[in-house]
Amino acid sequence: MVSPGEYQQQYQASVDDPERFWLDAAAAIDWDSPPSRALDDSTAPIYRWFPDATLNTCANALDRHVATGRGDQAALIYDSAMLGKQRTYTYSELLEQVALFAGVLAAHGVSKGDRVIVYLPMIPEAAIAMLACARLGAVHSVVFGGFAAKELAARIEDAEPKLIVTASGGLEPGRTVAYLPIVAKALELAQTDSATTVLVKQRESIPGSAADYTDPAIAWIDWDEALAVAEPAVPVSVSATDPLYILYTSGTTGKPKGVVRDNGGHAVALTWSMCNIYDIGPGQVMWTASDVGWVVGHSYIVYAPLLVGATTVLYEGKPVGTPDAGAFWRVVSEHKVRALFTAPTALRAIRKVDPEAKELAKYDVSSLQTLFVAGERLDPSTYEWASTALAVPVVDHWWQTETGWPICANLRGLEPMPIKPGSPTVPVPGYQLDVLGDTGSSVGANAEGNIVLALPLPPGTLVGLWRDDDRFVRSYLSTYDGYYLTGDSGYTDDDGYVYVLGRSDDVINVAGHRLSTGGMEAVLAGHPAIAECAVIGIHDDIKGQRPSGYVVLKAGVDIEPDTLRAELVQRVRDEIGAVATFRDVTVVTALPKTRSGKILRKTMRQIVGGEDYTVPSTIEDPAVLDVLEQTIGPSA
Ligand code: COA
Ligand code: AMP
Repeated sequence: MVSPGEYQQQYQASVDDPERFWLDAAAAIDWDSPPSRALDDSTAPIYRWFPDATLNTCANALDRHVATGRGDQAALIYDSAMLGKQRTYTYSELLEQVALFAGVLAAHGVSKGDRVIVYLPMIPEAAIAMLACARLGAVHSVVFGGFAAKELAARIEDAEPKLIVTASGGLEPGRTVAYLPIVAKALELAQTDSATTVLVKQRESIPGSAADYTDPAIAWIDWDEALAVAEPAVPVSVSATDPLYILYTSGTTGKPKGVVRDNGGHAVALTWSMCNIYDIGPGQVMWTASDVGWVVGHSYIVYAPLLVGATTVLYEGKPVGTPDAGAFWRVVSEHKVRALFTAPTALRAIRKVDPEAKELAKYDVSSLQTLFVAGERLDPSTYEWASTALAVPVVDHWWQTETGWPICANLRGLEPMPIKPGSPTVPVPGYQLDVLGDTGSSVGANAEGNIVLALPLPPGTLVGLWRDDDRFVRSYLSTYDGYYLTGDSGYTDDDGYVYVLGRSDDVINVAGHRLSTGGMEAVLAGHPAIAECAVIGIHDDIKGQRPSGYVVLKAGVDIEPDTLRAELVQRVRDEIGAVATFRDVTVVTALPKTRSGKILRKTMRQIVGGEDYTVPSTIEDPAVLDVLEQTIGPSA
């Protein structure tokens, strides 16, 4: 194991006496009524943290910093590489905007417990809308802008929001994405009429406004006009166990999982993580180059930096092409970023365009202390490139939408440890990690298995799936009694370092975006020419993985492969969204299946990747594999 030090002591304390450990951490939060105890295990295996405490997350992120003299400090820096525009909000200014927008929401009937869907691009209004919901005790559910109407509709249907906050559109290189037709279509598709209001931020650069839409059942209202007549709202005290947000993520089926986060555990865990993992405190600048539509954006663009009185950068742009591969280094130098957090795919994109990091030499990035990466495994080659170019620690850390904050990390504020390329280092205090074999026993060091976390999970992790405790238990808690199943496989080495090798289910990771192959299969299966299909994740040099579809045509169907491919690609784009990056389609004569009809996707992945594999004993027809070797194997 790693040498006993601060990390080991803290880790042990979190395991031996979680009650004490998390009550101590809770002292960093301003509670309306403080917790007298940490863990409520009365409904195990579903746990609650700080059951008797009350607080307001927005007041902790904004009001208390203004009250303690941080009002003039930068809270949020909006940097749009798309528009060549920047704007800094001090804590006082951000508080004013959030309180007013909370007033707008309240005036349109939103109160504690109501859901609000936020479908916004990377503009300050996204953070303002989230914090305004938190101020009222309302539950936000942010939907990533790259999702199409049908995906938005599925989230509207499940969350049943009272109100939707959106903008005229988003900016992608070379095109604008008009949001309002997507919202209108989603409202039409959703089997619920819960929403009564759509608030629209009209962006100068993108046409489309609330005035373009009339509907007797829904009021379409302009953000700025509503704000101009709003009264600021005060923070509403909520129970620590009340939901702060729902964030939908891909499961193995097409139906997204609504991960629910609470208020109290979330505030405590994120605050603890800022000093201990990220080494960021009041007044220091953190830039998380993700999107507020993902969990990384929720936690480390919006909530965590503000909870500790730091400055967060909200970046609208890409790592390359907006305008060049120096974009990240420009932002670091202009805003004196101390910690940058991005996905390995972004580094690979920069490296491809600028392998010698010539763009980096143009900027003074001396403020940068650490580069954090997550979203997918940091491959050793990208690690070497980034750490040589930047000459700062490049820290891989592993987490999931469900956990909301890192499971494994190199805790830079607690006890920096030697970095081993390919490993996100060690379990973070609070997470009791084990690697189990299929029979449920520990496989020991250096053997691959299913990575699990002993219950209870620490504060800040999911408290359930929205209105679906059954699915929560079925998906995560029922495989191994007493453990949360991460869905990732991997191993630990002799020093206790963890290695995450990839998903053991049908979830794939494309450019740091988590996508369901089951969802894509459902779309392909809807095409009239398709008898059956499988989508698997295959290796992609830049995006880590990309989806690849294999389809069997119905008997008698005669269609040009190019026409079929174009139609299927368009279908996935229309029904899931551009973010799926679905482009590969191969027609095959048959798919390998078990005798009970389950498609052997893992074997297909191994064939495409040219890996050795064992023919599964349950296979219905082994001859299908020989045909696939010849049609989709690496030498095909
Ligand atoms: N709204 C609408 N469309 C979006 C979108 C958004 N917010 N984000 C992406 N898209 C679209 C893109 O325009 C693109 O469409 P196209 O097929 O018409 O070109 C498609 O979705 C795929 O986008 P993307 O995955 O961003 O690929 P890319 O080739 O444009 O860029 C990278 C590649 C690596 C630069 C980019 O994926 C990237 O920056 N990744 C980092 C991801 C990240 O931070 N993830 C967070 C996890 S921590
Ligand atoms: P998401 O819920 O979108 O954050 O995706 C979570 C999944 O991404 C995890 O289950 C992993 O499969 C993968 N992932 C995230 N971070 C890492 C990492 N640092 N190393 C390996 N895999 C990662």
